[in-house]
Amino acid sequence: MNGKLKVIVTILLAVTLTLGSCNRKKEVVEQDKALVNDSLFMEAYRPQFHFSPAEKWMNDPNGLVFHEGVYHLFYQYYPGDIVWGPMHWGHAVSKDLVYWEQKPIALFPDELGYIFSGSAIVDDQNTSGLGNGEKAPLAAIYTYHDMEGEKKGSNDYQTQGLAFSTDNGESWEKYSGNPILQNEEGFKDFRDPKVFWHESSKQWIMVLVAGDHARIYQSQNLIEWKYVSEFGKDRGGHGGVWECPDLFPLTAPESGKEVWVMIISINPGAPNGGSGTQYFIGKFDGTTFTSEQKNTRWLDWGTDNYAGVSYNHVPNGDRILIGWMSNWMYARDTPTETWRSAMTVPRKLGLQQQGDSLHLTNYPVENLATILKSEINRDISLPAGASDTINFDHFNQSEVRFRTEARDFVLSFGNDKGDTLMLTMDSEQKNFVLDRIKSGKVDFNEGFGDLMEMPVPGLPDGAYEVRVLMDWSSLEVFINGGVYVMTAQLFPNAPYTMLTVSNPGSEPADLTDLEVSRAERIW
Ligand code: FRU
Repeated sequence: MNGKLKVIVTILLAVTLTLGSCNRKKEVVEQDKALVNDSLFMEAYRPQFHFSPAEKWMNDPNGLVFHEGVYHLFYQYYPGDIVWGPMHWGHAVSKDLVYWEQKPIALFPDELGYIFSGSAIVDDQNTSGLGNGEKAPLAAIYTYHDMEGEKKGSNDYQTQGLAFSTDNGESWEKYSGNPILQNEEGFKDFRDPKVFWHESSKQWIMVLVAGDHARIYQSQNLIEWKYVSEFGKDRGGHGGVWECPDLFPLTAPESGKEVWVMIISINPGAPNGGSGTQYFIGKFDGTTFTSEQKNTRWLDWGTDNYAGVSYNHVPNGDRILIGWMSNWMYARDTPTETWRSAMTVPRKLGLQQQGDSLHLTNYPVENLATILKSEINRDISLPAGASDTINFDHFNQSEVRFRTEARDFVLSFGNDKGDTLMLTMDSEQKNFVLDRIKSGKVDFNEGFGDLMEMPVPGLPDGAYEVRVLMDWSSLEVFINGGVYVMTAQLFPNAPYTMLTVSNPGSEPADLTDLEVSRAERIW
C-alpha cells in the first residue's frame, strides 16, 4: 500500500470505527433506557399482572368510574414514602381492566386536609352545574381528613369534599364551596363516601360510614345533601371501625329479581385477623337499606383483600370490584423496597343461590383470559393417600384451575429453597385452609404466618371449580364460581416451581381438566 492510500484507508477506518462506536453508544443508551424501564417493574416481588404504583405507598382503590371507554382507577397514595402518609389520590387508567397506564397524581391534600377515600361519578345531566357546556363533568366525592383537628382532639375532623374534571379526568379542580358535607354530629370516623345515581328515585345517593354504621344521604346536585337513614348499628361484624361502604343492585339468578348489596370493610374484626370485607343482601328504596340477613358474611376470607368497592357507570350493568391486596395488620411491614402493595385483579360481582339464601360471588373479569396462555392440561386421578407433582417454572405468574368433586385435597406449591405454600380442602372440618407459615418470608410481622380458614358449607354435590391466580407476591383462590374466595400476599424466597397435589382423604380424588396457564406481564 502506498503512503497516500494508507492515509485514505486509515481515515476511512477511523470514520467507520467512530461511526460504529457512535452506533454502539446509541445502542447502549437505548439498551440502558430499556433496562431502566424494565427494572422499574422487575423488582423482587413486583406483581406482573396486578396493578401496583410505579413507586411509593398505596392503599384503598378510590373513584372507580368508567367513562368514554376508559376505566379509571384512583387510589390512596403517598408519594413521599413507602409507608402511609399525607393522602393523595393516585391515578391509573385501563381500557380493558388488564393493562394499566399510570397517570399523574389527581388530587393533592389542601388546607382542608388529606384526601381520604371516596368515589367518582359522571354527572351526565350537569346537575352540579360544574360542567363547561361541552363535556359531562366527572366528579370525585372524597373525605377530607384534617390532621390539625385530629391533633387538637376534636371529633369533627373528617368532612366530605368534591372535585371535578371537565377533561375526562386528566386534570381536577376542587369545588370552591368545600366541604360539601360537614360533620355536624361530630362522628370521630365519618368517611369514605360512595356516590351513585339512583335511577328509580332520580337522585344522587351517598353512603358513608360513621364508626359503627352506614349513613345514607340524598342530593339533586351533588352539592347539597340531606341525611335520610342509617344502617347497621346492630347488624354484621363490629370488631372494628366500619370503612369504605358500597351499595348497588344485582339480579338474583333464579327469580330474576333485583336485590341490593351493601359492602362494608371493617378493621380490625375480619374472620382471619385484621382487615376484611363483609356484605349484606337486602333492599333499597332510594331512602333506606334493609336486610333480613342474620349471619355475618364475608366477601373474601383471605387476609389481603380490603377496602374493595365497585365501578360506577359500567355500560352493560356489570358490577366490577377492585380491592386493596393488603391488611392494616402488616401493610407497612411487607418486604418490598420501592413501592408497597397492589390491587386484586378486577372481579365481577354476582349472586349465587344456596338453599333459600343468596350469596355474593366475586370472580376475575373475563378479559383476564386474554393474558392467560395454557401450558399444561391434564387429568389427575388420585387414589386415597396418593399424590402427583407438576413441575412448572412460572407458578408465580400463572393460573391453575381444575374441576373436582373431591372433598379432600391438598395443593402444595414449593421451590428449591424449601418454601411451601399449602391449600387444603378438608372434608372433616368442612373448611378450606390457606397455610403460608412456610411460604417464604413471613417473620416481618407476627400475625402474617397464621392459618387462614374458610368454611365451605355450600359446595355443590357434583363437580365444582377451583381457580388459583398467583403473581410474584399474591395468591387469589376462587372456589365454585367465586362464592368462596381467599386472597393472600406471599413473599417466597424463590419462585415456586413445583405443585404437589395430594389426596389425604379416604375416597379417590379426581381433578379434571387441570390447566396451568402462564400469565403474560402487563407492564
Ligand atoms: C381504609 C381507610 C379509609 C380511609 C383511608 C385512609 O383502608 O382507613 O377508611 O379513607 O383508608 O387512607
